[in-house]
Amino acid sequence: MIETITTKPFEGQKPGTSGLRKKVPVFQQPHYAENFIQSIFDALDGYGGKTLVIGGDGRYYNTEVVQTAIRMAAANGFGKVMAGRDGLLSTPAASNIIRKYKAFGGIILSASHNPGGPDGDFGIKFNAANGGPAPEGLTDAIYAKTRAITSYRIVKGPDVDLGRVGSTRVGGMTVEVIDPVADYAALMQKLFDFDAIRALIRSGFTMRFDGMGAITGPYGTAILEGLLGFPTGTVMNGIPLPDFGGHHPDPNLVHAKELCDLVLSSTGPDFGAASDGDGDRNLIIGRGMYVTPSDSLAILAANATLVPGYKDGLSGIARSMPTSAAADRVAEKLRIACYETPTGWKFFGNLLDAKLATICGEESFGTGSNHVREKDGLWAVLMWLNILARRRESVADIVQGHWQAFGRNYYSRHDYEEVDAEAANGLMAALREKLPRLKGHHGIEAADDFAYDDPVDGSRTTGQGIRLLFAGGSRIVYRLSGTGTAGATLRVYIERYEADASRHDIETQAALADLIALSRGIAEIEERTGRSAPTVIT
Ligand code: G1P
Ligand code: ZN
Repeated sequence: MIETITTKPFEGQKPGTSGLRKKVPVFQQPHYAENFIQSIFDALDGYGGKTLVIGGDGRYYNTEVVQTAIRMAAANGFGKVMAGRDGLLSTPAASNIIRKYKAFGGIILSASHNPGGPDGDFGIKFNAANGGPAPEGLTDAIYAKTRAITSYRIVKGPDVDLGRVGSTRVGGMTVEVIDPVADYAALMQKLFDFDAIRALIRSGFTMRFDGMGAITGPYGTAILEGLLGFPTGTVMNGIPLPDFGGHHPDPNLVHAKELCDLVLSSTGPDFGAASDGDGDRNLIIGRGMYVTPSDSLAILAANATLVPGYKDGLSGIARSMPTSAAADRVAEKLRIACYETPTGWKFFGNLLDAKLATICGEESFGTGSNHVREKDGLWAVLMWLNILARRRESVADIVQGHWQAFGRNYYSRHDYEEVDAEAANGLMAALREKLPRLKGHHGIEAADDFAYDDPVDGSRTTGQGIRLLFAGGSRIVYRLSGTGTAGATLRVYIERYEADASRHDIETQAALADLIALSRGIAEIEERTGRSAPTVIT
């Protein structure tokens, strides 16, 4: 029985870098999630009778919203919903399901790497038929619908049993509950040489994978321990929990400390990796060697032809603007294009669809390829394993060899979290105002507010971050986060290029010290925000 429920718009249902993200209690307000889901449907055309994929990262409130979304999809005329068992699907797995089964799109419930639980964060995003995040035009249309909504449609009835794989009906619609891991594992087996990785394991190679109490636990366990044969216990924090076991599921040196301490020690396993809340991010470390995401992108690109799925080479590389230029040097050597896009995976979609780029990456622990339209944490781990299996060198040797061949891009991101929003906006406005006068001072060769012209659809995206470009390839970039849920987060990205191999072993913060001091001075960070130091350094 379809019901039409009268509702009123909520303020601020504006999708950010990656969908709508708010605190759980905000989403728990009556009609809040329903309004947003209906607005997604209202902004779409032509989905009658088509398939919608639904799943999430298992965080607190996930199953409730999965049930709601299923009922609303039925009431709005979808023909079928494919939902992950227990309401689970990692973001890259959802992207794969959408593509593989030619679905109309998907609703993914996640706040990615943000903490979960009753007081944590929740999120809803829509992915289109190519499996990628809704483009800006669509998110703008969804936002417009949220501001004008007067009612939503929902089917009343009992909850769907999400615990069992199989088909049922809700209203006139079929609901197919699927194994969340199987299709994804099959895709990975197509791309990677599992036999070569098995041989590496037999040679005594050891690793640890940290699921961080989030969605990649089941994927990691099935693929690393199940299919590849790493010993039980290789996957730590492998059970997805509604509050991620109290962890902050962000795979970086700060939040994956236990793993990092283990692998960075001289007696640790050969290789360590972690993924985030919804499975799209990755952290890569070798014994005694942390690999920055920017370096990881460059190294994967430089070695891609060792991996069956990429043996014919790459058509191009794409990186987000704040990501270091390490990948650019690889692209230059391979004589392929390197695209510089605004922050957020949605900007890679057109490049991948048009086959202009094969591999993409962001400094924020995101790497992926044309196999799906999201970044993919476990994919990056398997890329590394496949390359290690072929090269039979340590992670540290591979990274140092890469620097010798291409030079090293020292790189760090300094985050000032939960800054007063007005102060943060004021800081950015003052920087923008200063831009024309910065050139020629402190060695700045160019300064601008990054804008991107999409080579595929011709769209222009402006205001994507202030760039200060120095002689010799150094950069300082400032932008405000689009994924936070409290106050504003100022991100400052600092990079320095060093060609001389005898200067490749300086501690990163020390190597960047001058630029770090300059980044604080030019933007008047302490005067404007009251912060004398960042909250997180990665
Ligand atoms: C952050 C990252 C960005 C990434 C996004 C989603 O966005 O910086 O690279 O695509 O999360 O994972 P931000 O908070 O900076 O807007
Ligand atoms: Zn994520």
